[in-house]
Amino acid sequence: MSSSHPWWRHAVVYQVYLRSFSDGDGDGTGDIAGLRLRLPYIRSLGVDAIWINPWYVSPLNDGGYDVADYRRIDPRFGTLEDAIGLIEEASGLGLRVLLDLVPNHTSTDHVWFQEALASAPGGKARARYHFRPGRGPGGAEPPTDWISVFGGRTWSRVGDGEWYLHLFDSTQPDLNWAHPEVRAEFLDIIRFWLERGASGFRVDVANGLEKDPSYPDVGAVDKPKGIPGGDLHPYSDRDPLHEIVREWRSVVDEYPEAILVAEAWVENWDRLARYLRPDEYHQAFNFEFMEAPWTEEAMKSAISIAVPASAAMGAVPTWVLSNHDIVRQVTRYGLPQTLDARDWLLDGDRELFDPGLGLRRAKAAALLMLGLPGSAYIYQGEELGLPEVHDLPLEFLDDPTYTRSEQTMKGRDGCRVPIPWTAEGGSFGFGTDGSWLPQPADWGGLSVESQEGVPDSMLELYRTAIRLRDQHLAGSESFEWVEACVGCLAFQRESVLVVVNFGPESTVMPEGEILLASSRLVEDRLPPDTTAWLGV
Ligand code: NOJ
Repeated sequence: MSSSHPWWRHAVVYQVYLRSFSDGDGDGTGDIAGLRLRLPYIRSLGVDAIWINPWYVSPLNDGGYDVADYRRIDPRFGTLEDAIGLIEEASGLGLRVLLDLVPNHTSTDHVWFQEALASAPGGKARARYHFRPGRGPGGAEPPTDWISVFGGRTWSRVGDGEWYLHLFDSTQPDLNWAHPEVRAEFLDIIRFWLERGASGFRVDVANGLEKDPSYPDVGAVDKPKGIPGGDLHPYSDRDPLHEIVREWRSVVDEYPEAILVAEAWVENWDRLARYLRPDEYHQAFNFEFMEAPWTEEAMKSAISIAVPASAAMGAVPTWVLSNHDIVRQVTRYGLPQTLDARDWLLDGDRELFDPGLGLRRAKAAALLMLGLPGSAYIYQGEELGLPEVHDLPLEFLDDPTYTRSEQTMKGRDGCRVPIPWTAEGGSFGFGTDGSWLPQPADWGGLSVESQEGVPDSMLELYRTAIRLRDQHLAGSESFEWVEACVGCLAFQRESVLVVVNFGPESTVMPEGEILLASSRLVEDRLPPDTTAWLGV
């Protein structure tokens, strides 16, 4: 592909949550050896790249987003040599490798935090984090009223009475990005992995980093559902963070094909567009699309805003239907669309979930997403139509959210259950026997083995869609809404018309050669909750 249309502008990226992907050494946890075994499978999907969630040394209190050493691999996942071997092998198969950069916080096990703990209040080593005296008598009250994204306070107190800031778990202390050593260290980490063949980074909590040095109260809400922030917000989406991104970008630009992808939870597109300025991120996930209910209005609105807003920045939209933080789409779409799936997960009526409907809509959503201009990210297991595992026994819950929120949020374990590879066998081919989270007994039917070569399966739908996308749409960023049929959403991409029927009845389809449909057409009519690609 020419430099005027670099790879990432149309790439399909496959997200590997390493811990739950494939277990090469049989200890119940996915690892690099397991991933290497499955690279041909990933290649067979037709994707361009993989994004691997954090694989660095970590106590895994937050699934690896609590990094103790950014330049070494956690022994449960393998070694640095294994990581380099994986990157080389993937690249030999034509797959680029994106890593996860976690700059907002480290683990409390990180040497810097250990040094901070060992030093006295006001000591130099504490300045790399946000240590503050408390408020009220004896400094017994936390410095601000901020609430952690996982629930509970954002401050924990150490033995000598000072408090440190953590927007997430107490084992994830926030770094002080006003400190020159913090800035220099991450430039070096970026270089370290780019030198070892990585093609860039998905950047965790891209809207974090910058904190208001006066630490004002926010009048906290009791239950956080994201922290949109804005320039006047004390810790999210503050304008000065962009200067940090520009520094990273200048290093990344030394590696011609490398990219930065923002995980930025922000208020609106006006704020998100700032991350896509030409000297900042190449991509920013479109979470509005991911969170949209399955309705024509919500999907149309999420697409309508993203396409021109990205283009205005010289960028392309980055679509995503799921990831390791959100209820899987088969479950989201299989519930009444007025419900928040996270609330249902906690204590909702299980009878409200219609798995057949969820799968049907998830198939339609896949063809909708893969038909759009720009880049698309697929989360492992989405191509198998895995539902959220909503009934994990409580003793297995590992996500700190459940306890930190005092059981008011169930957490994200249900979308992180290990992948079924085979129809039979202990852990369905994930490893030799068990898996760190139990898989539902009927998951063999959803395994890769059970779906491979089965024409109507979710797996073959993804494969065909990616192949046709490459064939008909690669390199094209054209997009135009079309009035095609009542109750439908339709858009034209080059010679492909993408039509989605959100209505309750089947509908007459526009003329054209049927390239692909997400469910069987009935006498050439487009059934409800179905997407078709037509050659016109
Ligand atoms: C976003 C990551 O995707 C999530 O898994 C993690 O818990 C938080 N950032 C904190 O690092």
